[in-house]
Amino acid sequence: MVILSIESTCDETAAAVTADGRKVLSDQVFSQVGLHAVYGGVVPEIASRAHVEVVSRLAEKALEAAGVKKADIDAVAVSYAPGLIGAVLVGVSFAKAAAYGLGVPLIPVHHVRGHIAANYLAFPDLEPPFLCLAISGGNTLLVDVRDYTDMRSLGATVDDAAGECFDKAARVLGLGYPGGKPVDELSKTGDDKKYSLPRAHVAGRPYDMSFSGLKTAVVNIVHTAEQRGEPVDKPSLCASFCAAVSGELLPRAIAALRELGYKKLAVAGGVAANSRIRADFEAAAEQAGVRLYIPPLRLCVDNAAMIGAQAYYEYLAGARAGSDLNGYANLEI
Ligand code: KG4
Repeated sequence: MVILSIESTCDETAAAVTADGRKVLSDQVFSQVGLHAVYGGVVPEIASRAHVEVVSRLAEKALEAAGVKKADIDAVAVSYAPGLIGAVLVGVSFAKAAAYGLGVPLIPVHHVRGHIAANYLAFPDLEPPFLCLAISGGNTLLVDVRDYTDMRSLGATVDDAAGECFDKAARVLGLGYPGGKPVDELSKTGDDKKYSLPRAHVAGRPYDMSFSGLKTAVVNIVHTAEQRGEPVDKPSLCASFCAAVSGELLPRAIAALRELGYKKLAVAGGVAANSRIRADFEAAAEQAGVRLYIPPLRLCVDNAAMIGAQAYYEYLAGARAGSDLNGYANLEI
């Protein structure tokens, strides 16, 4: 089954063609990072306008790169939630028109389900059930993937997403946007014990996470040093910060694996690129006798191939949308 999929929930416009949920025929991504970098974060209105400008050309390019004609498309899929609502609606409107024009079904896909499905593209042997930690710029949650379309969120961040926290820490350290990569790079030469940073616990909700206290702690360290005229050891602050984020994520994932009795742990989303998080998860998985799945970076960050992968399973489960499909800023997985 050949699916044309569209992704526009944040600052990447993407279009892909996939076959049977596991094979990528083409994967086109237009990153808007350059448009937002000057503002230090994503500006929703700029994101929506930029999606409008490129989405149809990108879809044409995806078909061309895949070597398929419009008549070969069996369905159109779209990431319809969660995300920046104006941005989401661009992809939803385009996908509705494309499905109507081609006379094929329209499949709505939850963006985080798409991130999880990136693992199906990277690891052809992976099948549910497994545990997935989705860590991206806009979402942070721990998901029990009972089956391809049967998922339950065990816990989530109660405030900032992990990627958002990286971006804000990078901003106060003057490292630019998006901040995950430069923080990761600097951390490699730092001492991860030099700065004491908080680890949060949400009372009565063992799998929930919180990152805003960590973000505030980094901001306070930098501002206090500035006021005293003291230098900040940026590599060590980055190393301590990466260790703190990893320390927020890893124990929860391990506890959930134990509770569920699963031996498979998948990680998804842009923050999965972080070298400290990868190293900590690899060591813990080996110790626990758990198989760890982390897709390559290209599939971790926002893309439309992952939407096409999940769409295939949603289609098999009977998911169809009409021309009344709406987009949503927030939606349970
Ligand atoms: O998955 P993604 O494209 O975002 C959403 O779907 O929202 O991931 C982008 C996020 C950004 O916050 C970026 O700073 C972060 O992933 N990121 C990283 C690294 N590379 C990207 N965070 C930590 N370490 C990295 N190496």
